[in-house]
This record gives sequence, structure tokens and C-alpha cells, in this order.
Amino acid sequence: MPELKISRRNYLGALGAGAGAAAALSTLSCTQPQPTKEAKKAEEIPPPPEHERRMQWWREAKFGMFIHWGLYSVFGRHEWAMETEAIPVTEYELLAKQFKPRPNAARDWAKLAKRAGMKYMVMTSKHHEGFCHFDSKLTNYCAPRQGPGRDLAKEFVEAARAEGLRLGFYYSLMDWHHPDGAKCAENEESRRRFVDYIHGQIQEILTLYGKIDIMWYDVAWPLDAKGWESEKMNEMVLKLQPDIVINNRNQLPGDFGTPEQRIVAEKRDWEACMTMNDSWGYHKNDDDWKTPKTVIRNLVTCARGGGNYLLNIGPKADGSIPEESTKILNTVGAWMEKNSQSIYGAERCQVRTSMYAGYTRRGNTLYMHIHFWPGATAVIPGLETKVKSAKLLASGKPVEFKQEELRVVLTGLPESAPDTPVTTLAIECESEPIQNMERVRKQRQRLQA
Ligand code: GLC
Repeated sequence: MPELKISRRNYLGALGAGAGAAAALSTLSCTQPQPTKEAKKAEEIPPPPEHERRMQWWREAKFGMFIHWGLYSVFGRHEWAMETEAIPVTEYELLAKQFKPRPNAARDWAKLAKRAGMKYMVMTSKHHEGFCHFDSKLTNYCAPRQGPGRDLAKEFVEAARAEGLRLGFYYSLMDWHHPDGAKCAENEESRRRFVDYIHGQIQEILTLYGKIDIMWYDVAWPLDAKGWESEKMNEMVLKLQPDIVINNRNQLPGDFGTPEQRIVAEKRDWEACMTMNDSWGYHKNDDDWKTPKTVIRNLVTCARGGGNYLLNIGPKADGSIPEESTKILNTVGAWMEKNSQSIYGAERCQVRTSMYAGYTRRGNTLYMHIHFWPGATAVIPGLETKVKSAKLLASGKPVEFKQEELRVVLTGLPESAPDTPVTTLAIECESEPIQNMERVRKQRQRLQA
């Protein structure tokens, strides 16, 4: 295994995908993390051909399931364990024989995704460890010829289709197993071999399983777009799958941006991907689970900013889903059952200020998603647009309101939250709802002068 001279932070930095603190901040509806330099640059480059047509369903969908599954699921200590615990290739390879998932585990994932209100699924076909779930002619390090003894990509594809969900493949360009995976940066012969291998495998996953909806590249270390021949890569992808949408992690902007572990509204199409605890792959002892409320608030924040939310599960080696993930997604699903019309097809929403609610919008309808229930009255500050009517979305119960110059006061609400973990109000306006906090501030200054 050649030595990898780059830290995890550098890999992520190179992607423009900072993690951590920003995620916590972004769940507050009044903070607005800024797009990275890379994201801004991408906004100036035209997307691949027929972008508008191909992106239609994806923009409507808003909520997807990410699945990180691989040999690291056998090890159970995070998907980066091979690197972060310095496991030699020959030792790590032994996991491939121990990986014996039960048949069709993906059916449970797809059922859960459907129940949660998710519209698409993206599974790791090969992560950085180099092990492939698909039937590759280019390596024996793949599910059909190792422990599983069958094609796990096929099971995934069939499971998603059975639930009527769209599906995509995550594919890591970086490869810790391939002998040229690091050398390719220094040696042309090695680069040629490795790039042929990578392009060849992408061709395989886009040829073997019928229609694929999403191509989700990851980590482009150690080459640049020229080295990866990324233009040619995207051309091949679109030729094999003319309706597919492509992400931005092969060093080209693609169809959409992929802020990671944080929610950043980019000007172009974007999808925030996030873990439910702190790991993508199964990590036995990671107990840092998000609450269902946090997940719903994140989904609302994405939908408000015109983006999608790709939320991860890390199944165990046998394919079963960690119980906490199932519990969280069941709760989210129960909420979506009553409130999803405020999420699917949501358009960018200008209204954002509240210390107890997030917002989404469809046409002239503003949805106020209250996560800290205020009691009998709730306020939308600075709303300039005339409100026609208001109701509780889940029950359809009308809500009384007074529209004043600088605020809308919703009155006669129950003392405790009628819905959990978030209660949604649908507020129909005369035109696109616009909030003007500047007027609120100016008025205060005038009064204080
Ligand atoms: C990062 C990590 C990886 C994870 C991915 C998901 O690039 O390296 O483990 O698969 O993000 O976005």
C-alpha cells in the first residue's frame, strides 16, 4: 500500500466540504452559512447538457437516503478505519471473506426510505477501501467473488425499484486497495492503468443494471480533472444514461453541489449530505445520534434554500439497519405523512427569521414549521405580503390571525404543540411571501430616536 500523504481534513477541504460546527449552526433558521469558494466558482461554469430537463424530478424530490455499506461494516469502527487505524491491505482484505450479508437486506432499507418519505436512494458501490458491491470484470475484490457470493448492487437496484424509488450509485474515485491508487499522481503509466480501471468500473455500474438516476462521485484525490479525464468521464456517463444527474466530486461542477455535514444554500442546485450519528459507515459505538426533530429541521432548512437532503444510514455487515436509525426515520416518516406537502416541490423561500420556527414555500403558500412551540400566539415578524388564510397543516384546522404593519400574529393556538416533533402551519398569501426585517429595524431606530 503506497503511503497516502494527506490528512482527512485535507481531502475534505479539497472538496470544499467542511464538517462539524457549521452543521450545528445551520440548524438555526436565522444563520446563513456561506457557500465555499469552490461552490461559488462552480456557479459560473455551465452545467452539463440538458441539465434543466434531467434535474426536474430531483428538484421535486427533496429527501433521499444515503447508504454506506462495505467491508468497514464488518469492522464496525467507521468507514475510514483502513486509513485511520493504518490497517495493511493484506490484513484488511480478510474482511472480504467475512462479509456475509443476508439475502436482499436492501429491501428493508428501501421500505424504510419509502416510509420516511424519501424519494431516492444512493448506495456506495465502491468506497475508498476499494471493495466493489457490483459484478466487476476488472477486479476479484467484489461481492460476487468474495464472502457475499452474489451481486449486492443488483439487490440494491431491485429493492429501490420495488418501492418506486429513484436510485443512484456513489463511487469513490480514490482507492486505497488498487496498487496504482496513489502512485498514479507521480507516474504516467500508473495513471493510465488506474484511470482506465476507474472509467471501466463506472461504465460497468452504468451498464449492468438498467436505468440509474444518479451518479455520485466521491473523493478525487490524488488527481485533478485533467488527470481523471473528468470531461470524458461525464460524457461517458451521460451517453450510457441520458437521464442521469451527476454530482460535483470528480473535480467538475456537474449538475449539483454537495455540501457535506452542513446546510449551505448555493445559488445552483445543491444537496446537503449528512450522517445520523457521526459516521457514514457502521460504527458500533458511535452513539451521537441526531434527534428526529433535528432531522426534520434540517430537511426544512434544505427545502427552504432550494436544496435536497441526503440522509445516511450505515447498515451492519449482515445488512440490518442500526435500530436508532430505524427509530429516527420512522418518526420522520410519521411527520412526513401529514406534512410532506410543505416539503416536496418546495421552492426557494425568502422568509427566514424566527427563533422558534423554520419556513418553506410553495407558490404563494408559506409553511411555518414550529419546533419550539410558543403557546397560544405565534409571530411572523416583518411579513410584507398580505395573508389570506392560515391553518394547521396536519389537521386542517383554521388559525386566526391579525396582520399588523410589522408582523403577523397568529392567535388562538393550543397551549401545547398539536403535532410532534414539529408543528406546521400553512399560511396562504396574496403573492410570494416576503419578509422585510430591515423595516422592523428601521422602525425601532425611529422610535428610539
Ligand atoms: C467524505 C468521506 C466519506 C463519505 C463521504 C460522504 O468524502 O471521505 O467517508 O463517504 O464524505 O459525503
